[in-house]
Amino acid sequence: MSNSASVPFRRIEGYAVVSEDGMIADAAGRTPDLLKFEADRRFFERGIDDVDLVVHGRHSREEQLGSGYRRRLILTREIPGVAADPSNENAVFWNPAGASFEQALAALGTPDSRIGILGGTDVFSLFLDSYDVFHLSRVPDVRLPGGRPLFPEVPIQTPEEVLARHGLRPGPRHVLDPAHGVAVVSWRRSSKGSVANFHGVCVQPGRLG
Ligand SMILES: NC(=O)c1ccc[n+]([C@@H]2O[C@H](COP(=O)([O-])OP(=O)(O)OC[C@H]3O[C@@H](n4cnc5c(N)ncnc54)[C@H](OP(=O)(O)O)[C@@H]3O)[C@@H](O)[C@H]2O)c1
Repeated sequence: MSNSASVPFRRIEGYAVVSEDGMIADAAGRTPDLLKFEADRRFFERGIDDVDLVVHGRHSREEQLGSGYRRRLILTREIPGVAADPSNENAVFWNPAGASFEQALAALGTPDSRIGILGGTDVFSLFLDSYDVFHLSRVPDVRLPGGRPLFPEVPIQTPEEVLARHGLRPGPRHVLDPAHGVAVVSWRRSSKGSVANFHGVCVQPGRLG
């Protein structure tokens, strides 16, 4: 899908649910049931039902009916650049140290698209300067000491401080589960940043070292 012959449409959205202390998973690297709420799952699923492809690390993926049909980029350091996933014709492995985001999207056949970023920590961080919107769900009163943080800077900085530092601004807080106080805030880039993203983003190889 293109808005014109030369300007690709691209929209990059992040989705995460975090504990009070900003963790996406516990110290064992698993997302505990304490972070799983039906209303948040529905919010997440509605969002990614609308994306053209998802991007995630080797240990993170959505588990939905139909996930097998969704196009996906799976980050791994096990390959030098970009490689087809032999077990899934809709997936491509990508190592950002050896290939650009554009090259990975081209391998998947999706240069112009709406893209959902699903984590984990390093993958969320890689796109911090590129998000058009980041949907941050929060579960209060749950702490996961030593867990996997949303971004590498957490918990020294809060997730909100990191998002703000990268040019995103919070929208209204929507309560998803009143009984448990679970709520989501969608952080959006200012109009100036959005225009930059609208014209396409290229995550440079090796940005994470
Ligand atoms: N609460 C939430 O919203 C949320 C969101 C996402 C994930 N999670 C949970 O968090 C846990 C996993 O977190 P995680 O951070 O370990 O997972 P992850 O990012 O899914 O997987 C880490 C692996 O992905 C690859 N990878 C990540 N960044 C890379 C990069 N820059 N370049 C190349 N490869 C890269 C590496 O694979 P190789 O080892 O193959 O090199 C790395 O070992 C799971 O329990 C998951 O369910 C929760």
